[in-house]
Amino acid sequence: MSSFVLEASGLVKSFGQTHALAGVDLRVRTGESLAIMGASGSGKTTLLHCLAGIVRPDAGSVSFQSGAGRVEVTGLGERERSRLRREAFGFVFQQGLLIPELTAVENVALALMLNGMPRARAEEYGRGWLAALGLAGMEDRRIGQLSGGQAQRVAIARAQVTGAAVVFADEPTGALDSATSAEVMRALLDSTTGQGRTLVVVTHDADVAGRCSRIVDMRDGRIVGERVPARAGAGAGATAAPAATAPASAEAGA
Ligand SMILES: Nc1ncnc2c1ncn2[C@@H]1O[C@H](COP(=O)(O)OP(=O)(O)O)[C@@H](O)[C@H]1O
Ligand SMILES: [Mg+2]
Repeated sequence: MSSFVLEASGLVKSFGQTHALAGVDLRVRTGESLAIMGASGSGKTTLLHCLAGIVRPDAGSVSFQSGAGRVEVTGLGERERSRLRREAFGFVFQQGLLIPELTAVENVALALMLNGMPRARAEEYGRGWLAALGLAGMEDRRIGQLSGGQAQRVAIARAQVTGAAVVFADEPTGALDSATSAEVMRALLDSTTGQGRTLVVVTHDADVAGRCSRIVDMRDGRIVGERVPARAGAGAGATAAPAATAPASAEAGA
């Protein structure tokens, strides 16, 4: 099995006259935390979306190494890509995308229920992840009754509960103060690379990127450099994660 969970080559994506990606080659190693940095408009989000099968590039390919073999993400149809995203990937965005009318545990459980797991079991897994992320006692609060950092940890729990092989985070700390940002980043690393999973994080925050194991720099739709931060790996492994991760959908009804 390849040690690269994702391999992208020759990615090109334009929006009208804007060349968001102008030829990107990138290999993401299994279990690494990769930060994608660059100025606003440099193509970070577009790259993340291509890697995750959200956006189809105009040219180039992305492949994903799953337990079952290599999947050519760019060759999949809309439905198959949607299924891949639900089952193999987790997503954390700057803010929002949690459902405000639902409680913390319902938001997390929803990710499993979409994969066919019955509610009671999904909520049990959800509670396990919330506790692991330091949110015990807050499971039944609605999102609006949580602080920004707490809500972001609910989003991390939701991204993780399905056992996602890769978590994609786009400016996950962009709306948080620096202390909360450090705490959220620690939770994100512990629940991904701390468990042997892979994290790809888009950020323009040097502190956030500095906690990752590798940084690539983008400019004008290209990768222009690659670095290993001085304090690579710091922050991983500090908190416990639940012993059991929810199974992928194939077993979800069992
Ligand atoms: N859906 C879209 N429609 C039109 N232009 C877009 C779209 N998405 C991104 N772009 C443009 O592509 C370029 C790269 O955008 P993006 O990948 O979002 O950069 P970043 O995340 O680094 O800020 C920018 O010029 C942006 O305006
Ligand atoms: Mg962006």
